[in-house]
Amino acid sequence: MSRPHFGLTGLAVMGQNLARNVAHKGFPIAVHNRSAEKTEQFLKEFGHEGDFTGSTDIASFVAALEAPRAIIIMVKAGKPVDDVIDALKPHLSPGDLIIDGGNSLFTDTERRLKQLTAEGFLFIGTGVSGGEEGALKGPSIMPGGSVEGYERVKDILTTISAQVDGEACCTYIGEGGSGHYVKMVHNGIEYADMQLIAEAYDLLKNAAGLSNEEIGEVFTEWNQGDLDSFLIEITAQIFQTKDPDTGGHLVDYVLDKAGQKGTGKWTSQSALDLGVPVTGITEAVFARFLSALKDQRVAAAPQLAGPSGTYNGDKSAFVQAVRDALYASKVVAYAQGFAQMDSAATEYGWHLNPGEIATIWRGGCIIRARFLNRIKEAYDTQPDLQNLLLAPYFRDAVAQAQEGWRTVIKVAVECGIPIPAFASSLAYYDAYRRAWLPANLIQAQRDLFGAHTYERTDKEGVFHSSWG
Ligand code: 6PG
Repeated sequence: MSRPHFGLTGLAVMGQNLARNVAHKGFPIAVHNRSAEKTEQFLKEFGHEGDFTGSTDIASFVAALEAPRAIIIMVKAGKPVDDVIDALKPHLSPGDLIIDGGNSLFTDTERRLKQLTAEGFLFIGTGVSGGEEGALKGPSIMPGGSVEGYERVKDILTTISAQVDGEACCTYIGEGGSGHYVKMVHNGIEYADMQLIAEAYDLLKNAAGLSNEEIGEVFTEWNQGDLDSFLIEITAQIFQTKDPDTGGHLVDYVLDKAGQKGTGKWTSQSALDLGVPVTGITEAVFARFLSALKDQRVAAAPQLAGPSGTYNGDKSAFVQAVRDALYASKVVAYAQGFAQMDSAATEYGWHLNPGEIATIWRGGCIIRARFLNRIKEAYDTQPDLQNLLLAPYFRDAVAQAQEGWRTVIKVAVECGIPIPAFASSLAYYDAYRRAWLPANLIQAQRDLFGAHTYERTDKEGVFHSSWG
């Protein structure tokens, strides 16, 4: 029997499911985990599902693979990835391919790519999205780095990925750390999307006074239209879930402190470095930080004055307005995310294809949504599109949604309901559509106190004046 070319190390849930997915699709695969028991347990439980070769130590894992080898690492981002690479290297041959399938920081991926290429290995840093179920049944896969390496595993990756309209949700993203960068922005958009949905929930619950059942129905209905997406679908499911202990809605027993592993924060940090206004994602990250200050919020609640009103107008019109606000803000979040990827591509010399990125996000990943088809179409029609808001479809959709969007923000302010992502998205939209902003005053102030100079609207050059 011939030995497999493809191996996976790191048998936590994502790794296990990805290995099973590979085997289910008929590819032989070698598997390994740092602790031998996990490999043994995996083979006992799933060994019958496909052509697995299990190894309990790294030397026999590599030896079980036919050169040129391709090994995907599925471990926690950061030092564990470097540790596994260091452990693998002495056993590998030149030309072998290492793939990092975790949520690594793209600058780490760039560093590893440089180092491994210099040592004669091929390296790919790939985003894999879709959680445990996606890994098993078909994730969205975003590989970047070695093209030669990608060609070697293209068949496996495109076969195990999700498929939408006969197209694989996997494509070569670009050079360097771009695969992980694109996955990071995916996660940033995921943060924005989740925050927007949470703000919609707050408004439906506290301004409109809907019950959990009613909120569940609203999300179910929204999932039939333009908002059709995985995150809206699971939100509807959440409102249908009862707590077995109390019989109440489980969501009401979940502590309102949001966790995070850092990819949203990295997206914002990179946006700041690049000078791209990515306000929706950043507000979503800050909103998680604010939620984590639970004790402070509880202490402040009886002390700080402000309204806590409800909406007294037509409820069903208000629900529709919240839908419009959610839709328009979501378009802004995607517009900002795609603008960020474009800036990063220029900065780092990557050749990213936004239409293809939208294509592979249509299935498998957490932000999969019907409207990604529209984003793909927008970039297919106009590959050099500067901002998604300018694509005719989205320009018109946002124009239609904006009355509701503005109403919702007014109501939220009157009721004292925080809507950072809705409000910052509208502020971005209003700023982006304005030919004039009050930045002339900022320039004047900078010139007055620091002689920082300014440009004029009526003539070329750099000026400094004595003010006042
Ligand atoms: C995915 C997800 C995943 C991410 C979780 C949790 O694409 O499958 O983005 O990669 O780790 O969603 O992220 P936080 O813990 O930061 O919310």
